[in-house]
Order: sequence, then structure tokens, then C-alpha cells
Amino acid sequence: AALDPGAKPLAGRHVLVTSGPTHEPIDPVRYIANRSSGAQGTALAEALVDLGARVTFVTGPASAPMPKGAHVVPVETAAEMRDAVAAALPADAAIFAAAVADWRVESGSDRKIKKQDGALPELRLAENPDILAGVARMAEGRPRLVVGFAAETHDVTANATAKRARKGCDWIVANDVSPGTGIMGGSENAVTLITATGSEDWPRMGKADVARRLAQRLAEALANEDG
Ligand code: CTP
Ligand code: CA
Repeated sequence: AALDPGAKPLAGRHVLVTSGPTHEPIDPVRYIANRSSGAQGTALAEALVDLGARVTFVTGPASAPMPKGAHVVPVETAAEMRDAVAAALPADAAIFAAAVADWRVESGSDRKIKKQDGALPELRLAENPDILAGVARMAEGRPRLVVGFAAETHDVTANATAKRARKGCDWIVANDVSPGTGIMGGSENAVTLITATGSEDWPRMGKADVARRLAQRLAEALANEDG
């Protein structure tokens, strides 16, 4: 059912949002990161607050402003993000908008790595925990609605549909971040929403509009009890 504008359909609900990139240290002055401004995550958190939700916002080092009205938990690495997410649960819904670095340096150095006559440092990488999949597959205390994002550069709907199944989440919000779309770092987004029943292409719109529409959908899904 459609909801009144101005209504607070998420009053009394707790929604967890992850956002921003993560930084994985190489040494005290260098890190591996993902490209993400955190703008879509901030817009989403603000849209959820507007609908009355209590929002916990677990964010890596983002350049976007922090969402007003949310409880902000700043983290740096994927491991810290996983721990902060675990500490923030339970939640009615969880949205994973963070661009988590897939790899960390297996043994970061406490001291700055110095150049040595052209000898190159070898970085051994280890895979980071999949925070979204961990929550989506919780045996007990799983949020009723678990939503992932998928940033793809090609075969967007097919890749994101496979990702939804692999991770066990309810919805995937897929977007095309190939160079030339201007989406990465821009103010607009063009997303495809993938649910259990299929996929919907949304027209290109501002990130705040994507956020409002998604927050509205989430409120309807929680109200209908059927995700
Ligand atoms: N994600 C996460 N923890 C990770 C990696 C990803 O929580 N270690 C979440 C992201 O926040 C996003 C979703 O998983 O909601 C999809 O991220 P994406 O990078 O597209 O998926 P990957 O499984 O890492 O696949 P890819 O090889 O395409 O990067
Ligand atoms: Ca990834």
C-alpha cells in the first residue's frame, strides 16, 4: 500500500547502514582503498531518518558529509566494519552501501616501508570477510530485510542477480559504475533493484531521490512483513 508523505512508517525501527570505502593499511602512511565518496550511503541514512527510523551508520573514511540524525560509527578497515556491524545488531533491516576493500595486506608494517635501491616491496594480500554475506546468512537474529549494493562495470543485471543468490541477501541495488557514466563520485545514480521476484530498472535520478525511493520501498516491505 502507498504511504502518506510526511508519515513516519519507520518509527520504532532500527536500520543499520554501512557506507564509504574501507582503508587497509600497508604501513603507517599508505593504504589500499576503494573508490567511494559515501554519498549514496549518506543520502540513504538521511532518507531513513526522515521516515522515522533509528539509523546506525557504520562508515569508512568517506568524503561525503555524515548523515544528520543518524548514530555514526566511524571505522577504517573491513575488519573494524565487521565488528562494528556485529555490535550494532539487532536491526530490523540492514543496508550494505559500503565499498569494502576485498583484500587487506596480510601483515601490515608498523614502520614506514623505505625505498631500497630499486628493490620492490612484495605485498601479500588476504581476503577480507564478506560482511554482507555474514549478516545475510546469520542463523539467529538476522535482520528481516538485508540489502546489498553491487557496483558493476558490465552485465549489470546478470552479475547482480548472481551476487544476490551468492550472498543470500533479500535485495541487491545494482549500479553501472563504468567510466563515462559519471556515477562514481557524481551526484546521480541509475540503479536496478533486484529482488526475489525479478529486476526493476529505475530511471537515472539524483542520489537523494534513489535514497528516498529505496527507503520508501523498505518501509513498505517491513510493513507488509514479507520482505
Ligand atoms: N560487501 C561486504 N563485505 C565485503 C565485500 C562486499 O559487505 N568484504 C558488500 C558491499 O557492501 C555490497 C555487496 O557486498 O553491498 C557487494 O559488494 P561487491 O564488491 O559488489 O561484491 P563482491 O562479492 O566483493 O564481488 P566483486 O568481485 O564483484 O567485487
Ligand atoms: Ca568487492
